[in-house]
Amino acid sequence: MDRYISVKDLEDGALELLPKAVRDYYKSGATEEYTLAENRRAFQRLRIRPKCMIGVLNYNLSTTVLGETVTMPVGISPTAMQRMAHPDGEVANVKAAEAAGVIYTLSTIATSSIEEVAEAAPNAIKWFQLYISYDRQITKELVLRAEKAGYKALALTVDTPLFGIRRADIRNKFSLPTHWRLANFDDLSSTKIHDAGEGSGLNNYTDGLFDKTLTWDEIKWLKSITKLPIVAKGILRGDDAVKAVEAGCAGILVSNHGARQLDGVPATIEALPEIVDAVKNYNVEVFMDGGVTTGTDVYKALALGAKMVFVGRPALWGLAVGAQEGVQHMLRIFRNELECTLQIAGTPTVADITKDMVRHESAYSR
Ligand code: FNR
Repeated sequence: MDRYISVKDLEDGALELLPKAVRDYYKSGATEEYTLAENRRAFQRLRIRPKCMIGVLNYNLSTTVLGETVTMPVGISPTAMQRMAHPDGEVANVKAAEAAGVIYTLSTIATSSIEEVAEAAPNAIKWFQLYISYDRQITKELVLRAEKAGYKALALTVDTPLFGIRRADIRNKFSLPTHWRLANFDDLSSTKIHDAGEGSGLNNYTDGLFDKTLTWDEIKWLKSITKLPIVAKGILRGDDAVKAVEAGCAGILVSNHGARQLDGVPATIEALPEIVDAVKNYNVEVFMDGGVTTGTDVYKALALGAKMVFVGRPALWGLAVGAQEGVQHMLRIFRNELECTLQIAGTPTVADITKDMVRHESAYSR
Protein backbone atom coordinates (compact mmCIF):
# COMPACT_ATOMS: atom_id res chain seq x y z
CA MET A 1 0.00 0.00 0.00
CA ASP A 2 2.94 2.32 0.65
CA ARG A 3 3.25 3.24 -2.99
CA TYR A 4 -0.14 4.94 -2.87
CA ILE A 5 0.69 8.32 -1.39
CA SER A 6 -2.54 10.08 -2.32
CA VAL A 7 -6.17 9.31 -3.12
CA LYS A 8 -5.28 10.14 -6.73
CA ASP A 9 -2.68 7.35 -6.64
CA LEU A 10 -5.37 4.95 -5.44
CA GLU A 11 -7.67 6.13 -8.22
CA ASP A 12 -4.98 5.60 -10.88
CA GLY A 13 -4.22 2.14 -9.47
CA ALA A 14 -7.90 1.17 -9.39
CA LEU A 15 -8.59 2.39 -12.91
CA GLU A 16 -5.77 0.19 -14.20
CA LEU A 17 -7.18 -2.87 -12.46
CA LEU A 18 -10.92 -2.64 -13.07
CA PRO A 19 -12.64 -4.06 -16.17
CA LYS A 20 -13.79 -1.33 -18.56
CA ALA A 21 -17.55 -1.45 -17.87
CA VAL A 22 -17.03 -1.32 -14.09
CA ARG A 23 -14.38 1.40 -14.35
CA ASP A 24 -16.69 3.52 -16.51
CA TYR A 25 -19.67 2.94 -14.20
CA TYR A 26 -17.71 4.06 -11.14
CA LYS A 27 -15.93 7.04 -12.56
CA SER A 28 -18.49 8.60 -14.87
CA GLY A 29 -20.78 11.55 -14.31
CA ALA A 30 -23.91 12.76 -16.10
CA THR A 31 -23.84 13.73 -19.82
CA GLU A 32 -20.94 16.16 -20.55
CA GLU A 33 -19.41 15.64 -17.07
CA TYR A 34 -19.07 19.39 -16.57
CA THR A 35 -20.21 19.21 -12.93
CA LEU A 36 -17.99 16.18 -12.37
CA ALA A 37 -14.94 18.33 -13.12
CA GLU A 38 -16.37 21.31 -11.21
CA ASN A 39 -16.78 19.22 -8.03
CA ARG A 40 -12.96 19.13 -7.95
CA ARG A 41 -12.20 22.54 -9.45
CA ALA A 42 -14.42 24.43 -7.03
CA PHE A 43 -12.27 23.20 -4.13
CA GLN A 44 -9.20 24.51 -5.93
CA ARG A 45 -10.75 27.99 -6.08
CA LEU A 46 -10.78 28.21 -2.29
CA ARG A 47 -7.74 29.32 -0.30
CA ILE A 48 -6.93 28.36 3.28
CA ARG A 49 -5.76 31.26 5.51
CA PRO A 50 -3.49 29.73 8.19
CA LYS A 51 -3.03 31.28 11.62
CA CYS A 52 0.53 31.16 12.96
CA MET A 53 1.98 30.59 16.42
CA ILE A 54 -1.11 28.96 17.89
CA GLY A 55 0.30 25.95 19.78
CA VAL A 56 -1.01 22.87 18.05
CA LEU A 57 0.54 20.01 20.01
CA ASN A 58 -2.82 18.76 21.24
CA TYR A 59 -4.60 18.51 17.92
CA ASN A 60 -7.72 16.36 17.68
CA LEU A 61 -9.71 15.28 14.63
CA SER A 62 -12.64 13.68 16.38
CA THR A 63 -16.16 15.06 16.26
CA THR A 64 -19.75 13.95 16.79
CA VAL A 65 -22.32 13.19 14.14
CA LEU A 66 -25.99 12.79 15.11
CA GLY A 67 -24.81 12.01 18.64
CA GLU A 68 -22.17 9.41 17.67
CA THR A 69 -18.45 10.07 18.10
CA VAL A 70 -16.32 9.55 15.00
CA THR A 71 -12.51 9.64 14.96
CA MET A 72 -12.44 12.10 12.08
CA PRO A 73 -14.94 14.11 10.07
CA VAL A 74 -14.73 11.87 6.98
CA GLY A 75 -17.26 9.11 6.33
CA ILE A 76 -18.09 6.78 3.47
CA SER A 77 -20.98 7.63 1.13
CA PRO A 78 -23.19 4.90 -0.30
CA THR A 79 -22.08 3.55 -3.64
CA ALA A 80 -23.95 0.75 -5.34
CA MET A 81 -22.69 -2.78 -6.05
CA GLN A 82 -19.29 -2.72 -4.38
CA ARG A 83 -18.49 -6.38 -5.09
CA MET A 84 -17.71 -5.30 -8.64
CA ALA A 85 -14.70 -3.42 -7.22
CA HIS A 86 -13.53 -6.38 -5.15
CA PRO A 87 -15.26 -9.68 -4.29
CA ASP A 88 -15.29 -8.68 -0.59
CA GLY A 89 -17.26 -5.54 -1.54
CA GLU A 90 -19.39 -3.87 1.11
CA VAL A 91 -18.12 -6.25 3.81
CA ALA A 92 -14.50 -5.13 3.33
CA ASN A 93 -15.59 -1.51 3.17
CA VAL A 94 -17.59 -1.58 6.40
CA LYS A 95 -14.78 -3.42 8.21
CA ALA A 96 -12.38 -0.67 7.15
CA ALA A 97 -14.79 1.96 8.46
CA GLU A 98 -15.11 0.03 11.73
CA ALA A 99 -11.32 -0.19 12.14
CA ALA A 100 -10.97 3.53 11.41
CA GLY A 101 -13.90 4.64 13.59
CA VAL A 102 -15.81 6.39 10.81
CA ILE A 103 -19.32 6.12 9.38
CA TYR A 104 -20.14 3.64 6.62
CA THR A 105 -23.28 4.08 4.54
CA LEU A 106 -24.72 1.01 2.83
CA SER A 107 -26.57 1.50 -0.47
CA THR A 108 -30.06 0.11 -1.04
CA ILE A 109 -28.67 -1.40 -4.24
CA ALA A 110 -25.76 -3.17 -2.59
CA THR A 111 -24.27 -6.54 -3.44
CA SER A 112 -24.15 -7.46 0.28
CA SER A 113 -27.25 -7.47 2.46
CA ILE A 114 -28.11 -5.21 5.38
CA GLU A 115 -27.60 -8.14 7.75
CA GLU A 116 -24.32 -9.39 6.22
CA VAL A 117 -22.81 -5.94 6.56
CA ALA A 118 -24.04 -5.54 10.14
CA GLU A 119 -22.66 -8.92 11.16
CA ALA A 120 -19.29 -8.24 9.52
CA ALA A 121 -18.78 -5.03 11.49
CA PRO A 122 -21.02 -4.96 14.55
CA ASN A 123 -19.17 -1.99 16.05
CA ALA A 124 -19.10 0.19 12.96
CA ILE A 125 -21.36 3.22 12.91
CA LYS A 126 -23.57 2.27 9.98
CA TRP A 127 -26.12 4.31 8.06
CA PHE A 128 -28.51 2.85 5.51
CA GLN A 129 -29.14 4.71 2.26
CA LEU A 130 -32.72 4.49 1.14
CA TYR A 131 -34.36 4.65 -2.25
CA ILE A 132 -38.13 4.65 -1.82
CA SER A 133 -39.83 2.31 -4.26
CA TYR A 134 -43.39 2.32 -5.60
CA ASP A 135 -44.11 -0.64 -3.39
CA ARG A 136 -44.01 0.89 0.11
CA GLN A 137 -44.02 -2.56 1.65
CA ILE A 138 -40.58 -3.24 0.09
CA THR A 139 -39.30 0.07 1.47
CA LYS A 140 -40.83 -0.51 4.90
CA GLU A 141 -39.15 -3.91 5.15
CA LEU A 142 -35.75 -2.43 4.26
CA VAL A 143 -36.14 0.27 6.90
CA LEU A 144 -37.21 -2.17 9.59
CA ARG A 145 -34.37 -4.53 8.71
CA ALA A 146 -31.84 -1.68 8.94
CA GLU A 147 -33.23 -0.55 12.29
CA LYS A 148 -33.19 -4.10 13.64
CA ALA A 149 -29.61 -4.66 12.44
CA GLY A 150 -28.38 -1.62 14.38
CA TYR A 151 -27.98 1.01 11.67
CA LYS A 152 -27.95 4.47 13.21
CA ALA A 153 -29.54 6.64 10.52
CA LEU A 154 -31.30 6.58 7.17
CA ALA A 155 -29.76 8.58 4.35
CA LEU A 156 -32.81 9.19 2.18
CA THR A 157 -31.67 9.95 -1.35
CA VAL A 158 -33.88 12.82 -2.53
CA ASP A 159 -32.19 13.65 -5.85
CA THR A 160 -33.10 10.55 -7.81
CA PRO A 161 -36.61 10.29 -9.27
CA LEU A 162 -34.69 8.46 -12.00
CA PHE A 163 -31.02 7.97 -12.76
CA GLY A 164 -29.15 10.60 -14.74
CA ILE A 165 -27.85 9.91 -18.24
CA ARG A 166 -24.41 8.35 -18.03
CA ARG A 167 -23.25 7.88 -21.58
CA ALA A 168 -20.53 5.36 -20.89
CA ASP A 169 -23.05 3.02 -19.25
CA ILE A 170 -25.30 3.26 -22.28
CA ARG A 171 -22.40 2.56 -24.64
CA ASN A 172 -21.22 -0.36 -22.51
CA LYS A 173 -24.78 -1.67 -21.98
CA PHE A 174 -23.74 -1.76 -18.36
CA SER A 175 -25.32 -4.37 -16.12
CA LEU A 176 -24.42 -6.20 -12.93
CA PRO A 177 -22.35 -9.32 -13.68
CA THR A 178 -24.58 -12.38 -13.24
CA HIS A 179 -22.53 -13.84 -10.38
CA TRP A 180 -23.54 -10.90 -8.16
CA ARG A 181 -27.00 -9.97 -6.99
CA LEU A 182 -28.71 -7.03 -5.37
CA ALA A 183 -28.56 -8.63 -1.97
CA ASN A 184 -31.23 -6.55 -0.23
CA PHE A 185 -33.94 -7.86 -2.53
CA ASP A 186 -35.18 -11.29 -3.36
CA ASP A 187 -33.89 -12.89 -6.55
CA LEU A 188 -37.02 -12.15 -8.52
CA SER A 189 -36.85 -8.40 -8.21
CA SER A 190 -33.18 -8.25 -9.13
CA THR A 191 -33.28 -10.22 -12.35
CA LYS A 192 -33.75 -7.25 -14.68
CA ILE A 193 -30.51 -5.69 -13.57
CA HIS A 194 -28.54 -8.42 -15.32
CA ASP A 195 -30.29 -7.73 -18.56
CA ALA A 196 -29.03 -4.59 -20.27
CA GLY A 197 -31.56 -4.77 -23.11
CA GLU A 198 -31.38 -1.36 -24.74
CA GLY A 199 -28.92 0.92 -22.96
CA SER A 200 -27.89 0.74 -19.30
CA GLY A 201 -29.29 -2.28 -17.44
CA LEU A 202 -29.13 -0.39 -14.17
CA ASN A 203 -31.33 2.41 -15.47
CA ASN A 204 -33.81 -0.06 -16.93
CA TYR A 205 -34.06 -1.74 -13.57
CA THR A 206 -34.32 1.34 -11.38
CA ASP A 207 -36.86 3.06 -13.64
CA GLY A 208 -39.36 0.52 -12.42
CA LEU A 209 -38.23 0.72 -8.82
CA PHE A 210 -37.88 4.42 -7.94
CA ASP A 211 -41.10 6.19 -7.10
CA LYS A 212 -41.47 9.34 -9.18
CA THR A 213 -44.41 10.61 -7.13
CA LEU A 214 -42.34 11.33 -4.01
CA THR A 215 -42.81 14.62 -2.15
CA TRP A 216 -41.61 15.90 1.23
CA ASP A 217 -44.78 14.38 2.77
CA GLU A 218 -42.97 11.05 2.51
CA ILE A 219 -40.82 12.01 5.52
CA LYS A 220 -43.95 11.87 7.71
CA TRP A 221 -44.62 8.34 6.53
CA LEU A 222 -41.01 7.32 7.15
CA LYS A 223 -41.12 8.80 10.63
CA SER A 224 -44.28 6.83 11.34
CA ILE A 225 -42.46 3.55 10.68
CA THR A 226 -39.01 4.24 12.19
CA LYS A 227 -37.29 6.05 15.03
CA LEU A 228 -34.05 6.34 13.04
CA PRO A 229 -32.93 9.90 12.26
CA ILE A 230 -33.35 10.79 8.58
CA VAL A 231 -30.67 12.58 6.57
CA ALA A 232 -31.85 14.11 3.28
CA LYS A 233 -29.13 13.24 0.77
CA GLY A 234 -28.86 15.24 -2.43
CA ILE A 235 -29.85 18.78 -1.42
CA LEU A 236 -28.43 21.66 -3.50
CA ARG A 237 -30.70 24.59 -2.51
CA GLY A 238 -31.28 26.47 0.74
CA ASP A 239 -35.07 26.38 0.38
CA ASP A 240 -35.03 22.60 -0.12
CA ALA A 241 -32.90 22.24 3.00
CA VAL A 242 -35.51 24.18 4.97
CA LYS A 243 -38.29 21.97 3.55
CA ALA A 244 -36.36 18.87 4.54
CA VAL A 245 -35.84 20.08 8.11
CA GLU A 246 -39.43 21.24 8.48
CA ALA A 247 -40.55 17.84 7.23
CA GLY A 248 -38.55 16.26 10.08
CA CYS A 249 -35.05 15.47 8.76
CA ALA A 250 -32.23 15.58 11.33
CA GLY A 251 -29.47 16.06 8.77
CA ILE A 252 -28.85 17.49 5.32
CA LEU A 253 -26.27 15.89 3.04
CA VAL A 254 -25.37 18.44 0.40
CA SER A 255 -24.66 16.26 -2.60
CA ASN A 256 -25.00 16.15 -6.37
CA HIS A 257 -24.73 12.36 -6.33
CA GLY A 258 -21.10 12.51 -7.42
CA ALA A 259 -22.21 14.63 -10.43
CA ARG A 260 -24.09 11.61 -11.80
CA GLN A 261 -27.62 13.01 -11.88
CA LEU A 262 -27.93 16.37 -13.65
CA ASP A 263 -24.99 17.95 -15.38
CA GLY A 264 -24.69 21.71 -14.91
CA VAL A 265 -25.69 21.74 -11.24
CA PRO A 266 -23.31 23.51 -8.83
CA ALA A 267 -20.30 21.84 -7.35
CA THR A 268 -21.31 20.76 -3.85
CA ILE A 269 -18.69 22.93 -2.12
CA GLU A 270 -20.25 25.90 -3.96
CA ALA A 271 -23.78 24.97 -2.84
CA LEU A 272 -22.77 24.32 0.78
CA PRO A 273 -22.72 27.93 2.15
CA GLU A 274 -26.27 28.68 0.90
CA ILE A 275 -27.57 25.62 2.68
CA VAL A 276 -25.65 26.19 5.91
CA ASP A 277 -27.04 29.71 5.99
CA ALA A 278 -30.62 28.64 5.23
CA VAL A 279 -30.80 26.21 8.16
CA LYS A 280 -28.65 28.09 10.68
CA ASN A 281 -31.58 28.64 13.04
CA TYR A 282 -32.65 25.00 13.00
CA ASN A 283 -31.32 22.12 15.03
CA VAL A 284 -29.84 20.17 12.10
CA GLU A 285 -26.44 18.94 11.00
CA VAL A 286 -25.17 19.67 7.49
CA PHE A 287 -22.84 17.29 5.66
CA MET A 288 -21.45 17.31 2.13
CA ASP A 289 -19.95 14.97 -0.44
CA GLY A 290 -18.65 15.30 -3.99
CA GLY A 291 -15.11 15.66 -5.26
CA VAL A 292 -13.42 15.36 -1.86
CA THR A 293 -10.00 13.80 -2.47
CA THR A 294 -7.60 15.53 -0.07
CA GLY A 295 -7.37 16.57 3.56
CA THR A 296 -7.44 20.21 2.51
CA ASP A 297 -10.75 19.59 0.67
CA VAL A 298 -12.20 18.22 3.91
CA TYR A 299 -10.86 21.22 5.78
CA LYS A 300 -12.45 23.70 3.34
CA ALA A 301 -15.84 21.99 3.65
CA LEU A 302 -15.65 22.12 7.46
CA ALA A 303 -14.71 25.81 7.31
CA LEU A 304 -17.78 26.49 5.17
CA GLY A 305 -20.02 24.86 7.75
CA ALA A 306 -20.13 21.12 7.06
CA LYS A 307 -20.18 19.02 10.23
CA MET A 308 -18.57 16.19 8.31
CA VAL A 309 -17.81 15.17 4.72
CA PHE A 310 -18.37 11.88 2.95
CA VAL A 311 -16.42 10.25 0.14
CA GLY A 312 -17.86 7.91 -2.48
CA ARG A 313 -15.39 7.02 -5.21
CA PRO A 314 -12.27 7.13 -2.98
CA ALA A 315 -13.64 4.11 -1.08
CA LEU A 316 -14.21 2.26 -4.36
CA TRP A 317 -10.63 2.96 -5.44
CA GLY A 318 -9.30 1.70 -2.09
CA LEU A 319 -11.48 -1.40 -2.36
CA ALA A 320 -10.30 -2.15 -5.90
CA VAL A 321 -6.59 -1.93 -5.08
CA GLY A 322 -6.63 -3.70 -1.74
CA ALA A 323 -10.01 -4.77 -0.30
CA GLN A 324 -10.35 -3.82 3.40
CA GLU A 325 -6.70 -2.77 3.65
CA GLY A 326 -7.08 -0.56 0.58
CA VAL A 327 -10.05 1.28 2.10
CA GLN A 328 -8.21 1.63 5.41
CA HIS A 329 -5.27 3.04 3.50
CA MET A 330 -7.54 5.58 1.80
CA LEU A 331 -8.87 6.64 5.22
CA ARG A 332 -5.30 6.85 6.56
CA ILE A 333 -4.35 9.20 3.74
CA PHE A 334 -7.27 11.49 4.63
CA ARG A 335 -6.37 11.29 8.32
CA ASN A 336 -2.70 12.17 7.75
CA GLU A 337 -3.52 15.02 5.40
CA LEU A 338 -6.19 16.39 7.71
CA GLU A 339 -3.95 16.17 10.79
CA CYS A 340 -1.25 18.03 8.91
CA THR A 341 -3.71 20.70 7.70
CA LEU A 342 -5.21 21.28 11.15
CA GLN A 343 -1.80 21.87 12.66
CA ILE A 344 -0.24 24.03 9.95
CA ALA A 345 -3.44 26.08 9.63
CA GLY A 346 -3.32 26.77 13.38
CA THR A 347 -6.71 25.21 14.16
CA PRO A 348 -5.92 22.18 16.32
CA THR A 349 -9.49 20.95 16.78
CA VAL A 350 -12.43 20.60 14.42
CA ALA A 351 -14.31 23.28 16.39
CA ASP A 352 -11.50 25.76 15.63
CA ILE A 353 -12.12 25.56 11.87
CA THR A 354 -14.23 28.67 11.42
CA LYS A 355 -15.49 30.36 8.26
CA ASP A 356 -12.66 32.92 8.19
CA MET A 357 -10.14 30.08 7.61
CA VAL A 358 -11.15 29.93 3.93
CA ARG A 359 -11.54 32.57 1.25
CA HIS A 360 -12.49 32.39 -2.41
CA GLU A 361 -9.57 32.97 -4.80
CA SER A 362 -11.33 36.01 -6.29
CA ALA A 363 -10.55 37.90 -3.05
CA TYR A 364 -6.85 37.63 -3.90
CA SER A 365 -7.03 38.78 -7.51
CA ARG A 366 -8.49 42.24 -6.94
C1 FNR B 1 -22.99 6.67 -6.15
N1 FNR B 1 -23.84 7.41 -5.33
C2 FNR B 1 -24.94 6.80 -4.78
N2 FNR B 1 -25.77 7.52 -3.97
C3 FNR B 1 -26.85 6.95 -3.40
O1 FNR B 1 -27.57 7.62 -2.68
N3 FNR B 1 -27.10 5.61 -3.61
C4 FNR B 1 -26.33 4.83 -4.40
O2 FNR B 1 -26.58 3.65 -4.56
C5 FNR B 1 -25.22 5.44 -5.05
N4 FNR B 1 -24.42 4.74 -5.89
C6 FNR B 1 -23.31 5.32 -6.43
C7 FNR B 1 -22.46 4.56 -7.24
C8 FNR B 1 -21.29 5.12 -7.73
C9 FNR B 1 -20.39 4.29 -8.58
C10 FNR B 1 -20.96 6.46 -7.42
C11 FNR B 1 -19.67 7.08 -7.91
C12 FNR B 1 -21.80 7.21 -6.65
C13 FNR B 1 -23.48 8.78 -4.94
C14 FNR B 1 -22.59 8.77 -3.70
O3 FNR B 1 -23.33 8.41 -2.57
C15 FNR B 1 -21.94 10.12 -3.42
O4 FNR B 1 -22.94 11.11 -3.36
C16 FNR B 1 -20.87 10.52 -4.42
O5 FNR B 1 -20.13 9.39 -4.84
C17 FNR B 1 -19.92 11.54 -3.81
O6 FNR B 1 -19.00 11.98 -4.73
P1 FNR B 1 -17.50 11.40 -4.85
O7 FNR B 1 -16.94 11.31 -3.44
O8 FNR B 1 -17.61 10.08 -5.52
O9 FNR B 1 -16.82 12.43 -5.70
